[in-house]
Amino acid sequence: MYRVGIIGLGSIASRYSTPDDAYPYCHAGGIRLCDTTQLVAVADMSPERQADFKSTWGPGFPDNSINYYESDTQMLESEKLDIVAVCVRGPHHFQVMQNVLRADIKAIFLEKPAGCSLEEVDTMTAGADAKGIPIVVDYTRHWGPHLIRLQELIKDGLIGEVQSVIGYCGGGVLSFSIHTTDMICQFAGYDPISVTGYVEGSGDVPEPYEYEPAIVGSTIHFESGVIGFHVGKHGVRGGFSVDILGSDGIVQTGFYSSTTVHQGGKLVDNATLDLPENASPFKVAYKQITDYLDGGSPPDCSRDDYTAVNEIGFATIESGITGKTINLPCQNRKRLIFANG
Ligand SMILES: NC(=O)c1ccc[n+]([C@@H]2O[C@H](COP(=O)([O-])OP(=O)(O)OC[C@H]3O[C@@H](n4cnc5c(N)ncnc54)[C@H](O)[C@@H]3O)[C@@H](O)[C@H]2O)c1
Repeated sequence: MYRVGIIGLGSIASRYSTPDDAYPYCHAGGIRLCDTTQLVAVADMSPERQADFKSTWGPGFPDNSINYYESDTQMLESEKLDIVAVCVRGPHHFQVMQNVLRADIKAIFLEKPAGCSLEEVDTMTAGADAKGIPIVVDYTRHWGPHLIRLQELIKDGLIGEVQSVIGYCGGGVLSFSIHTTDMICQFAGYDPISVTGYVEGSGDVPEPYEYEPAIVGSTIHFESGVIGFHVGKHGVRGGFSVDILGSDGIVQTGFYSSTTVHQGGKLVDNATLDLPENASPFKVAYKQITDYLDGGSPPDCSRDDYTAVNEIGFATIESGITGKTINLPCQNRKRLIFANG
């Protein structure tokens, strides 16, 4: 069993679900259901958050199996951990990641947005590379079991050659709609070369940050020739949904929406697709991480994948502000956004 510690006991660590949920949408629930991970420690400076976690999740784990800490550094110094989940807000990621990267661990599961600037993300990636460990960024919807299966089927030619992918999701470019940016890449490929973006919104944020705009839309060109379109509205099927248009068919799917496949203009019976049963995306992600630690292939949303997604996110903002198409990698790596999701 791989020993996991969580930093930050907020919504995504534990508060979105309870041990009663069949498909928990939080780290604690995924770690609990994954048969290769064991939650051994949690850290949060808030006594209320610790107490809340203890009362909600305590009964879901063996008695006294979890140690509680007031800070990330205390936990990292006291525990022998294999995997650390970083679940603090975006502006705290960089500092916490510097602490985590000093610890003797095997993998990091970092919440989106990876960082508040490309420079921050570059530094984290270099730190992980130097240690030879992966950072996996949590674009959670990626690990919907049916989406992973469809990714495989489409790669194997279900709808011929993928030509374009349209993703639907509004909200903060880095903190929210980035899930759909990842989903576009999941089906288009992680080889973006340029981005034209449109953004909106302004507001007060602490110095030295800039406000995080919402996405209006973007066009993403991929090396492969595929074109991605990000629509900054949830669309009729809701956010986190995509249309994948191929030379011989169309797949419409999403994390929360049903799947429709047309091949050569004809509706495909979903029973023939062998779509798996639902599961907590966190359980799926933790299993991929531990499979990698057991000698398997790199987990999804690790280095090259999250790098591509981040480049698109920051280039969308850069393009939206400057009015120019941004060739990747984005030259301005210092723009610091208050990505507080
Ligand atoms: N993957 C998803 O679908 C999803 C959904 C919601 C939030 N998130 C992401 O998860 C992260 C956390 O968001 P949230 O809504 O859960 O936040 P939150 O505000 O609910 O919780 C954050 C917690 O971190 C604690 N904290 C801050 N600094 C700390 C430190 N140094 N050591 C220990 N604890 C510390 C705070 O006390 C707080 O309890 C963000 O990056 C957010 O974007 C992801």
